Amino acid sequence: MFSRFLDLKSKEERFDMEELGKHAEKVMTALDESIRGLDNMDDFLSCLHQVGATHTKIPDFNPQYFWKIEQPFLEAVKRTLEDRYSENVESTYKVTIKFIIETLIDGFDKAQNDKAQSGTAKS
Ligand code: HEM
Repeated sequence: MFSRFLDLKSKEERFDMEELGKHAEKVMTALDESIRGLDNMDDFLSCLHQVGATHTKIPDFNPQYFWKIEQPFLEAVKRTLEDRYSENVESTYKVTIKFIIETLIDGFDKAQNDKAQSGTAKS
């Protein structure tokens, strides 16, 4: 999926594992920023909607792929918090990541629908 996307950009652009690593960083930064911004619901939602929407430009992207981050994210939190990872903390993060992913999917679906609508309007 990444190589197909890069093919679209330019033939000269080199694809290697570095691209995937860079994306992993973007994923974690987006998750980090969204959790920090949870106290401002408007910003939280619009930021995640926008990230979800950017994935509509990726050929054959299925928004259900966003769920793939759920378990690795929880594992990362567990490893980071170690003995501070109580049952209470675990259930809070479980709800949080679920909400984030649902919001990403929402953003993707809305952008996809907007694209479909503007396509219909033109024809
Ligand atoms: C929680 C899950 C994810 C988050 C938070 C996330 C976040 C991001 C962000 C912030 C960007 C940069 C957008 C831009 O610069 O306009 C991006 C780009 C991209 N994402 Fe994701 N993403 C997620 C899941 C996925 C998955 C599952 C795939 C593919 C299987 C994917 C494929 C891509 C590709 C191909 C790009 C463009 C290349 C790049 O910028 O590295 N993403 N993503």
